Amino acid sequence: MDLVEGSSVVITGAASGIGEGLARECVNRGLRVALADVEKGPLDTLVDQLLAVGGTVTAGVVDVSDGAAVSAFAASVEAEFGCVDMVVANAGVIGPRRPLWEQSAQDWEWIIGVNLLGVSNTWAPFLPNMVKRGTGHLVATSSIAGLAPAMSGNAPYATTKHGIVGMAEVLRMDLAEVAPDIGVTVLFPGPVRTRIREAVRNRPDSLGGPDGVAAFSSDPQFDVESIEPRDVALHLLAALARGDRYVMPNSEYVESTATHLVEVAEGLRTSNTANSTR
Ligand code: NAI
Repeated sequence: MDLVEGSSVVITGAASGIGEGLARECVNRGLRVALADVEKGPLDTLVDQLLAVGGTVTAGVVDVSDGAAVSAFAASVEAEFGCVDMVVANAGVIGPRRPLWEQSAQDWEWIIGVNLLGVSNTWAPFLPNMVKRGTGHLVATSSIAGLAPAMSGNAPYATTKHGIVGMAEVLRMDLAEVAPDIGVTVLFPGPVRTRIREAVRNRPDSLGGPDGVAAFSSDPQFDVESIEPRDVALHLLAALARGDRYVMPNSEYVESTATHLVEVAEGLRTSNTANSTR
């Protein structure tokens, strides 16, 4: 993906953490940014800061689990920017840390709505114009938990982050038939110093609200290994310039993730061999 001065980038979950880091780095490089988030206060503050340094910025308070709201945002961004070059579906939440049998229907509904439907809701409205032009790039933020078991107690989160991988792979197949130059990249962060563990702050009342829901408690080792949002942004932008499809900014997690994927492949081979020699 050639992002040049004046290219336009949409980022969801932009008011904090990885999305904010990416927005700042895009503006540093002279890109135009359209930012979406559910948190109005932090979003307004960020927009003011980016405008103050000369950025071209538009923004909307948008819940990515609401497809109609994202479509309306997409229409307004396209009207304002004329053409959108890259869409980064980054917004995501993690629920309370508890075993699968204690996760409530509302835990699942909230996390699937934001992390999984939020990605298709964000990509879909921009795709018709990208397909017409034959250019553009789609990015989604998955997680190391989207490729390998990262931590107990986060089944809904891991499910959605694996789902993003499937969504991206099939989107690539869909695009290969009509617009093969449109790129799709999945970002797999490991621990990053953000507000993700306080994600329940944004849980809507209709799904149980933020009160009485425990914040996610992660492994202390994750704190030690956390990198900064800006590191993620720099790593991602370098990877996009090369056209990488799979991007993992926390290099210490690459080998353990690859080992897990090889174990899956070996499990399939072993099982197949055992069956065929019966
Ligand atoms: P963060 O909590 O600092 O930022 C997430 C942003 O998404 C917040 O500004 C929040 O208001 C917004 N958001 C939440 N629900 C939303 C909704 N329904 N619609 C629109 N915006 C919404 O967390 P972080 O870490 O920056 O998260 C960004 C992405 O990175 C997420 O998809 C997360 O799952 C992923 N990730 C983060 C890791 C970490 O260690 N921080 C590790 C792996 C993946």
